[in-house]
Amino acid sequence: MTTPLRKAVIPAAGLGTRFLPATKAMPKEMLTVVDKPLIQYVVEEARAAGIEEFCIVTGRGKISLVDHFDVAYELEATLRERNKTAALEQLAAMSAKEGSIVTVRQQVPHGLGHAVWCARAFTAGEAFAVLLPDVLVMAETPCLAQLADVYRQTGGNVLAVEEVPREHTNRYGILDVASDDGRLVEVRGLVEKPKPEDAPSNLSIIGRYILVPEVMAALEAQERGAGGEIQLTDAMAKLIGKGPFHGLRYQGRQYDCGDKAGFIEAQIAFGLQRPELADAIRGFLKAYSGH
Ligand code: G1P
Repeated sequence: MTTPLRKAVIPAAGLGTRFLPATKAMPKEMLTVVDKPLIQYVVEEARAAGIEEFCIVTGRGKISLVDHFDVAYELEATLRERNKTAALEQLAAMSAKEGSIVTVRQQVPHGLGHAVWCARAFTAGEAFAVLLPDVLVMAETPCLAQLADVYRQTGGNVLAVEEVPREHTNRYGILDVASDDGRLVEVRGLVEKPKPEDAPSNLSIIGRYILVPEVMAALEAQERGAGGEIQLTDAMAKLIGKGPFHGLRYQGRQYDCGDKAGFIEAQIAFGLQRPELADAIRGFLKAYSGH
């Protein structure tokens, strides 16, 4: 049965070792691109797809992720005193509706599948979105909204996918394709991080998912996969053949902010979107282009 899409799970329990020392005392999801933390980009993307309820899967030392969406009384009082209307409006737009963000803890780092499974009481038998905050997507229609459109038509699982160079298949979940109309792909198999020579295609999962509730039952088995971790990809693979399962070649561009070079590229790309910054950024890109 196709349930309406109202909920999103945001896994944010990772240790962020690739960004040390920045992430020693700060969650990696609070790293900012221009002036917004990664977590805020994905929450905004989800809201644009009609998501009303969020579960952030956190871990020790991640409380600032939740504080970020709270009302900051002292700050707002000071801004009001100083007539900083624009800043106040910005804060009002981003603070969460009461009770709309909950958190659960992933107490041990057993992998992405395990992190999602930690939110099983939250999803409670409904379809849900998963957004990985390491990945930012720049798109005219936000990526999750594109997936939600497909979900409303097809039901079942829907993943955002894109082609990657063959030599990079071992960094992603990879699709085995039953049929492909150039936009929508019917999924026949899924493999987590296959070696290029074993990869069934070069279509990769980018970190945006709409999943049917049955995935939680598949995760229940807690089977270990690639890297000795409980993989979301393996649990999704168990659902193939039991209902519709599609990959969508989304329109837009993703930035891997879990990678230093990707993160810097995101600063430039998202910075260039800001009219007040674009000229300055273009100017220094020109100045550095000979280096
Ligand atoms: C995770 C998923 C993988 C997906 C990737 C997208 O891997 O396991 O299937 O392709 O995110 O970013 P991770 O990057 O956490 O190793």
